[in-house]
Amino acid sequence: MAKIIALAGKGGVGKTTLCSAFVRILGEKYPKAKILAIDADPAVGLSTALGVTVNQTLDDIRREIIDKAASGAGKEAVELLGEVRFRIFDALVETDKFAFLAIGRPEGAGCYCAVNAYLKEVIDMVSRDFDYVVIDGEAGIEQINRRVMEKVTHLFLVTDASRKGIKVVKTIRKVADELVMYEKCVAIVNRVEDMSIVPFIKIEGTDIASIIESDSEHAHNDIMGKTIFELSEDAPVLAGARKALDSFGGCL
Ligand SMILES: Nc1ncnc2c1ncn2[C@@H]1O[C@H](COP(=O)(O)OP(=O)(O)OP(=O)(O)O)[C@@H](O)[C@H]1O
Ligand SMILES: [Mg+2]
Repeated sequence: MAKIIALAGKGGVGKTTLCSAFVRILGEKYPKAKILAIDADPAVGLSTALGVTVNQTLDDIRREIIDKAASGAGKEAVELLGEVRFRIFDALVETDKFAFLAIGRPEGAGCYCAVNAYLKEVIDMVSRDFDYVVIDGEAGIEQINRRVMEKVTHLFLVTDASRKGIKVVKTIRKVADELVMYEKCVAIVNRVEDMSIVPFIKIEGTDIASIIESDSEHAHNDIMGKTIFELSEDAPVLAGARKALDSFGGCL
């Protein structure tokens, strides 16, 4: 069974950045491991950070199946459902280092419930075929609340050094304690501009695995459209992500 790693937190705190860093670090540490990166954020971003091109999303597959079912082609729909597993593996973007799947952006009414429910099943299904599944979550608490992240084994709650970000971490932790079957849950405080405030950063109830300073090389790379694989080995984002993974005592 795979180790299922997910990142959650307030918007804009570095979830996608750290998710891509985890994919890179796990790939370097375990070259033979099968790693799947899932962009579970309908707003997308992980594909850019990892440098992959997405052709088909989970929502495309879901919609195709629903359309076929709605068109009255009953038998075909049943056959299609049987094919779902195959279709999802077909939709994975494979690189020599990792596989990638994006949830996609549902069209029309801004409700992601359907694709989120689908994602939950998919996480369950694909995790049997991978050693590591790394999930870049949507900002906020929705996917935790809807039990999309139910089977996550290692939950990273990401925040910046703001009161609001830390409050979101505390809220997510509370809900996760009820709804996520995690083995480990820690916080990462990212993009700290002024490291002199570090002694004052505390998150009641959750251990902080890593505090990461503002990384000018990463910021530069981001704006230049470079991927995480182009970031220097010892850049704060990578060093900080490594420290966060190591906080689990070598189990990741
Ligand atoms: N340690 C850091 N130093 C400098 N810039 C950073 C750092 N971490 C992240 N960033 C930058 O901050 C911005 C937000 O980061 P990112 O997209 O990873 O956050 P996010 O939590 O995924 O956001 P969203 O909720 O919108 O998906 C990006 O431009 C990213 O390059
Ligand atoms: Mg993001």
